[in-house]
Amino acid sequence: MKPVPVIAIDGPSASGKGTIAARVAGVLGFHVLESGALYRLVALASLRAGVAETDESSLAGIAAGLEARFLDGKIILSGEDVTEELRGEGIGNRASAVAALPALRSALLDRQRAFRQPPGLVADGRDMGTVVFPDAALKVFLTASVQVRASRRYKQLNDKGIHANLASLSRDLAERDERDAKRAAAPLVPAPDAVQLDSSDLSVDEVVGAVLKLAREKLESQQPR
Ligand code: DC
Repeated sequence: MKPVPVIAIDGPSASGKGTIAARVAGVLGFHVLESGALYRLVALASLRAGVAETDESSLAGIAAGLEARFLDGKIILSGEDVTEELRGEGIGNRASAVAALPALRSALLDRQRAFRQPPGLVADGRDMGTVVFPDAALKVFLTASVQVRASRRYKQLNDKGIHANLASLSRDLAERDERDAKRAAAPLVPAPDAVQLDSSDLSVDEVVGAVLKLAREKLESQQPR
């Protein structure tokens, strides 16, 4: 049987992975996995439970038992809509800290792989192409300069009426990238067979177009003849 195709989109914080993944999946009619949301959910659930961000076994237990659902763009944790709360910078930073712990990462592996359903999946994160879906049909490593990413995040927050400071956003992003890239477990690195795409000077439409072109080439070359 032919495996269900996966398009892996990895890259640093605020590189636009989520937006691109959702758009590409929409065009191809594929499912979407926003893996960062799972790490954010563990960060939020553990914060609420008063578990320290260094308590690896309790965090792995929380990850294994997460009662999470993804419904029409909303993220539900134990019956409560936490979509907005998850987007906060504080939760993002805590997610990056807990994501360095190997036991927690392995507790989330099967949950991520369960998203691989016909006709296909677009998965975004840090280790989609390296660890979770090493056999992905297409691996994209999406980057943008830290200045561009910080100003995109700033605009996103501003549009939602959330006060933000560009300099501290930029500092936080750089710190988070460094921690995600330097950790021992599933660090943020491009897979050897990933296509690297720098979106600093590209519009969303241009990036979506580039990923779709690559995806169609790869998917066609995998069709049985
Ligand atoms: O994509 P995001 O910003 O929502 O992710 C939040 C944090 O979760 C990120 O800083 C690192 C971690 N993460 C990870 O370690 N592996 C993934 N596949 C996705 C996210």
